[in-house]
Amino acid sequence: MNRLLILYATALCLFGACSPQAIDEPYRPAYHFTPATGWMNDPNGMVYLDGEYHLFYQYNPADIVWGPMHWGHAVSTDLVHWNHLPVALYPDSLGTIFSGSAVIDTDNTAGFGAGAMIAIYTSAGKAQTQSIAYSTDRGRSFTKYADNPVLTDTLPDFRDPKVFWYEPLRRWTMILAAGQEMRIYSSPNLKEWTYRSSFGIGQGAHGGVWECPDLFELPVTDTNENRWVLICNLNPGGPFGGSATQYFTGSFDGNSFINEAPVEAIKWMDWGKDHYATVTWNDAPDGRRIALGWMSNWQYADKVPTLHFRSANTVPRDLSLYRQEEGIYLQSSPSPELYALRGKAKKSADITVERSYSIGELLTDANGVYELELTLTHLTAEVAGFTLFNDHGDQIDCYYNRMERTLYFDRTKSGQTAFSTDFPAITAAPVESGDTLTLQLLADRSSIEIFIDGGRKVMTNLVFPTLPYHRISFYAKGGTYKLSTTFYPYKS
Ligand code: FRU
Repeated sequence: MNRLLILYATALCLFGACSPQAIDEPYRPAYHFTPATGWMNDPNGMVYLDGEYHLFYQYNPADIVWGPMHWGHAVSTDLVHWNHLPVALYPDSLGTIFSGSAVIDTDNTAGFGAGAMIAIYTSAGKAQTQSIAYSTDRGRSFTKYADNPVLTDTLPDFRDPKVFWYEPLRRWTMILAAGQEMRIYSSPNLKEWTYRSSFGIGQGAHGGVWECPDLFELPVTDTNENRWVLICNLNPGGPFGGSATQYFTGSFDGNSFINEAPVEAIKWMDWGKDHYATVTWNDAPDGRRIALGWMSNWQYADKVPTLHFRSANTVPRDLSLYRQEEGIYLQSSPSPELYALRGKAKKSADITVERSYSIGELLTDANGVYELELTLTHLTAEVAGFTLFNDHGDQIDCYYNRMERTLYFDRTKSGQTAFSTDFPAITAAPVESGDTLTLQLLADRSSIEIFIDGGRKVMTNLVFPTLPYHRISFYAKGGTYKLSTTFYPYKS
């Protein structure tokens, strides 16, 4: 049945009767981007042009499991409302269309026209090679370059080119995943590429293949310094099993990236199980660096209980850097555009939590879709937590262990969990807070993202309750804390 519906929707699109319409269903998110129908994995080719954020994505239009990869396409003027567009890139004789990036060729370096949008992607055929395609109509249609591929190698894993313009040397830079390392190339015209360096052997986490890199510069908040950030997704080898995103901070001179941290240090970008293939927009306005991840995990992405689509993205997150003791770390804050989705705020009076405390009506009407800010102060409790639950006995337990300085998220009893033995899990994030903790929860119909202390740590987890969690209860063990809450129902 689902397959038939999807095939029907796909056929309509192939004959140009698109844009596809999303079919609603209980686990279809509200805050998050999902494909109208079909399978999605990595976000690709994110680039901003003339007031539009473009989002391409790994897409199998004909089924809700991974298959022949296309680039799906959507645009948004505000990062939170998306218009689905027809498929941008179809498989061809060089292979299916794996992940990659897009740039705006303002100076016509490639000769396809000044201001052309150029997609750089992996052709996944017998070998993995890099190809380009260009659009001169704001991404509405693409022509593949006749002399593809533009970069080849004999490595089996050689993919996911992220390209950007490196102004000091006035040339394009590509960072590409090559097995257990990232390679850096440069080009004057996006067609001829010169190898510059490799990064990664002996550095950070290597529990799986390195994929989907990114490389960009950011200021360090409250200092006069800048750092380059190298994002490295790896699968498996994440802290809770399966897929995850690590990053390195350091310097880049147009040729080589140098990690400034000890080689064995691992910096995770997110502390949940469902944050992968995260990359950032090229050319975002106002110097912003906006990231988007695929909100799933290769351990079970093709088994989650959605019906007409599989996978959502994370919400967009604005990145910044902060210094803490000797290290520089990434902060991921929800992009401010999300606040347009806030309904009328409900604030609670400050209360002291001793043992347990329920806020009766707080979530009753929210249908599982809301934002909730929790501020915990005067923490003397050894453990301070809350449970989200429903009348079917499904529950999430989230608690801060002050002794361990760790926030835990337990989804072992969260609802539908049996579709994969890797799904029931407890994730844990180190937290620097002493006697104060702020948590911003973004709860959607099948996920909960928690931004800890403004996004200094983030935890992204899928959940599949059999009814929305419509109650919340707070508790304290071995002491007390003061609690204030602000609740915003979702408003489209
Ligand atoms: C990451 C990834 C990429 C690849 C794509 C294929 O999730 O494995 O390395 O390009 O998915 O769909």
